[in-house]
Amino acid sequence: MKAVVVYASKYGSTRGIAEFIAEKLRRAGTQADARHIGEVQNPGDYDAFVIGSAVYMMHWLKEATEFVTGNRALLANRPMWLFSSGPLGTETKDAQGQDLRAVTEPKEIAEFRELIKPRDHRVFFGVLDSSKLGFGHRMIRKLPAARKALAEGDFRDWNDIEAWALSIARELETSQAIPGSNKGTQGGL
Ligand SMILES: Cc1cc2nc3c(=O)[nH]c(=O)nc-3n(C[C@H](O)[C@H](O)[C@H](O)COP(=O)(O)O)c2cc1C
Repeated sequence: MKAVVVYASKYGSTRGIAEFIAEKLRRAGTQADARHIGEVQNPGDYDAFVIGSAVYMMHWLKEATEFVTGNRALLANRPMWLFSSGPLGTETKDAQGQDLRAVTEPKEIAEFRELIKPRDHRVFFGVLDSSKLGFGHRMIRKLPAARKALAEGDFRDWNDIEAWALSIARELETSQAIPGSNKGTQGGL
């Protein structure tokens, strides 16, 4: 079983999450690498995928969306998980009391659920380091409406991410044990 954690990241924090997940999968006994989306030349070489993108203005990065749509036939037949790295701050609920991870789900995810039937999609809290931001993002962050949502800091919850990675490792172990179960019960094989 050869898994790949594919990521799209503008400032590196999603790459950090992808590398961490790959390391946890390896420690659990699954062969796994983290690869930037542009580095995955032959997706057919992999048996399982974890695909993650940073979120900007409620959307995945374009290259991540293109990877999913461009490889949908392959991905629909592989065990596959998605994650998004986005919300910032220490609050876990918005002003209306709704779970921030649910309300910040990127727009593409509903379509991906139909298209490739991921086993799961998780939203993880992200990172904002204002000294790294490009001009356009710095300008957006200055808008009064954006300032509160775009809090500075590293809000990644490594325990949460580790628990998720280990649940993936367990599912992959089960897939290996049962021939032909590569997409699992949710995958509709
Ligand atoms: C201009 C700007 C817009 C953002 N928009 C969103 C958004 O709509 N939803 C969200 O959850 N996070 C948003 N974020 C937070 C980023 O997703 C977060 O900083 C993420 O960890 C960045 O990942 P990267 O370092 O891999 O690029 C935004 C950040 C910036 C700077």
